[in-house]
Amino acid sequence: MKKYNVGIIGATGMVGQRFSLLLCDHPWFNVTALAASPRSAGKTFEEAVGSRWAMKDAMPENLKNMIVQDAVADIDDIVSKVDFVFCAVDMKKDEIKALEEEYAKHECPVVSNNSAHRFTADVPMIIPEINPNHTDVIEAQKKRLGTKRGFIAVKSNCSLQSYVPALYPLDEKFGVDKCLVCTYQAISGAGKTFERWPEMIDNVIPFIGGEEEKSEKEPLKIWGEVKDGEIKLADSPKFTAQCLRVPVSDGHMAAVFVSFKNKPSKEEVLSVWKSFAGVPQELELPHAPKQFIHYYEEDNMPQTNLCRDLEGGMAIHAGRLREDSQYDYKFVCLSHNTLRGAAGGAVLLAELLCAKGFMD
Ligand SMILES: NC(=O)c1ccc[n+]([C@@H]2O[C@H](COP(=O)([O-])OP(=O)(O)OC[C@H]3O[C@@H](n4cnc5c(N)ncnc54)[C@H](OP(=O)(O)O)[C@@H]3O)[C@@H](O)[C@H]2O)c1
Repeated sequence: MKKYNVGIIGATGMVGQRFSLLLCDHPWFNVTALAASPRSAGKTFEEAVGSRWAMKDAMPENLKNMIVQDAVADIDDIVSKVDFVFCAVDMKKDEIKALEEEYAKHECPVVSNNSAHRFTADVPMIIPEINPNHTDVIEAQKKRLGTKRGFIAVKSNCSLQSYVPALYPLDEKFGVDKCLVCTYQAISGAGKTFERWPEMIDNVIPFIGGEEEKSEKEPLKIWGEVKDGEIKLADSPKFTAQCLRVPVSDGHMAAVFVSFKNKPSKEEVLSVWKSFAGVPQELELPHAPKQFIHYYEEDNMPQTNLCRDLEGGMAIHAGRLREDSQYDYKFVCLSHNTLRGAAGGAVLLAELLCAKGFMD
């Protein structure tokens, strides 16, 4: 595989920091640009991040002295140095939309963690094991933007990265009728650490702005189909969600209740999970977990602290599958929110796009 030069837009933030660690020694990608707000522009990466470094691993040596550029003002220089960019910024939705389109119109593909374009009809929202074929809509998007190679592809919200992978293959076989999910979400999902958010110690906050809507609606785009240059949303399965912020550094847990059109046996559910693999596993993409869904027989598993980092934080963990009195089954799921749920999921998406030739 050839090497691609990449940029990180929003490099100084929580997700951007994760990108820096995932990309600093990536076999296919070489970081040649870092960008953030005018507050960080002109400083070295180390100076710009300062005390905000929130990762357990140290900042990559080869990026420490790279000068952070202004994501907006320096766009011409940035796109001249990269084959594509990753984007994870904290800005107003319409500003993010405009920023990402500007990069695409500069013929620079954008792999985005932001929610701004998730419901733009010709922008694919991809979990690479589940709906890799949604890349088919990119040609229509390029036509709309008037570009030859510039486009935007996004990943979905971190909250649903555990339960959608568990439910998608079950829906294919048994038809999911309805699903109720309660998520227990880590503070890194808000770009925070305990040092910067001490109110979260010994506390649960029963509200995360916009999260329940995303958790219910985004799966319908993942389940959607490409038709007439757009992704048409599916109208099922139906989801209802409650999302809580819990005092955990990394890792979103979900308690799931599900009913099927054709109720499978417990053994059938476990067998589907065990054998579920997708294009990333077939192509052996660098960030593809070998086993996508790990099931734990122990009643007290999966645990956030013990499981989240398995397979580079890219695996999905499930446990406690049992029959329910009101739904067919209930179980729990877990995924690492800033790896599989954010930067890692975007890197895997970029690997898929490279393997399919979209970044050439
Ligand atoms: N944290 C997660 O688990 C997670 C998961 C999925 C998706 N996301 C999404 O990823 C995005 C970033 O989240 P985060 O948690 O990394 O946020 P964050 O830690 O607050 O970082 C925000 C980044 O945006 C940059 N930024 C702010 N204003 C800017 C501007 N005007 N121009 C250019 N860059 C600007 C910041 O640069 P400065 O340092 O210069 O201010 C910083 O690099 C958000 O859209 C979020 O919804 C986050």
